[in-house]
Amino acid sequence: MPNAYVSGTGFYVPPRVVTNETLIKEYGIDTSDDWIVQRTGIKERRFADEGVGSSDLAVKAAEDAIARAGIAKTDLDMIVFATLSSDHCFPGNGVYLQRKLGLCDGPNAKFVPALDVRNQCSGFLYGLSTATAMVKSGGAKHVLVVGSEVHSAALDLTTRGRTVASLFGDGAGAVVVSATDEDRGIRSWHLGADGRYADVLAQKIWDISQRPFIPRDANGVGQVQPEMMFANMDGKLVFKNAVERMMTVLMEALVANGITGNDIDLFCFHQANLRINQYLQQHLGIPDEKVVHNIQRYGNTTAATIPILLAEAERSGKLKRGMKVAMIAFGSGFTWGCIIADW
Ligand code: ACO
Repeated sequence: MPNAYVSGTGFYVPPRVVTNETLIKEYGIDTSDDWIVQRTGIKERRFADEGVGSSDLAVKAAEDAIARAGIAKTDLDMIVFATLSSDHCFPGNGVYLQRKLGLCDGPNAKFVPALDVRNQCSGFLYGLSTATAMVKSGGAKHVLVVGSEVHSAALDLTTRGRTVASLFGDGAGAVVVSATDEDRGIRSWHLGADGRYADVLAQKIWDISQRPFIPRDANGVGQVQPEMMFANMDGKLVFKNAVERMMTVLMEALVANGITGNDIDLFCFHQANLRINQYLQQHLGIPDEKVVHNIQRYGNTTAATIPILLAEAERSGKLKRGMKVAMIAFGSGFTWGCIIADW
């Protein structure tokens, strides 16, 4: 059975920087830099321009990862796409990415399977686990895993929506998972979910059980009310569960690998809130040099946070071949996961 390792990382964030000041001055939101920084650590985030979808950001991140893996696009055997902000209701973004990468063109067209993952902030780790299983089973040699989000279009950028709107940003990250006979790669994955909290952090644009599934006015025109259009969140409950679940799943992963936290060289926590991660870091006694963050610059990019972290850490030299890495995520659902890898 081959091992599965990350052969290439890539990321892309749109160029438009939206600072906390921009939220106040341009969008008229009643907030302050102090409020946002103190509670979340976020200083700024990126917003994509109108006309740019999460599949477009994904193309750039994917091309970066494929180039760094040293393979051709046509070497890919599968695409796994994690997002909560897909371009459309259906089809999922996997096929759009396949088309935009040019995989459907010309005599070398490769109609590889494209799988869409809907596990929000844990989506990348669910996708990476799936890709690893495919590679280890011999079903694929190279799998592209992408996490990409355009949140800015679906945020309530008014004072009414400030609690959620100040947290999220746009961006994409990607990895190529490849087969190897070397003794390295993804050692184990640990995933979980608790559907009792499915409604605590949700964006319910419609209810498919209703007729019509979106309310319509007298002329038959769909009417989506703000409470349906935008995400609702019980922030305190999310915070509490995030801390507990991330801690527990990390412990489960360490025990399964017969190691302790001291054996981990780099911790990549999902970037939901700097305070969540600082709490975990302090509680577990993890030194600063073993943790990477980017929430200060990008906000919460949901499925993209961990692959962006990996790509940035590789480029800055913080993540090197031979290091032991822990990736930990928690998100809407609730869903969570931890992956241990020897880089
Ligand atoms: N600027 C100024 N005031 C604000 C803002 C803002 N951006 N947002 C909320 N407030 C106000 C509220 O209106 C409220 O005012 P009130 O007391 O007059 O009603 C007050 O601040 C306190 O609001 P809370 O929601 O109770 O604030 P809290 O201290 O819980 O902090 C926060 C909110 C930062 C969202 C926190 O709960 C949190 O980080 N939770 C985790 C949520 C999270 O990470 N979600 C990301 C998605 S899930 C994931 O990725 C894991």
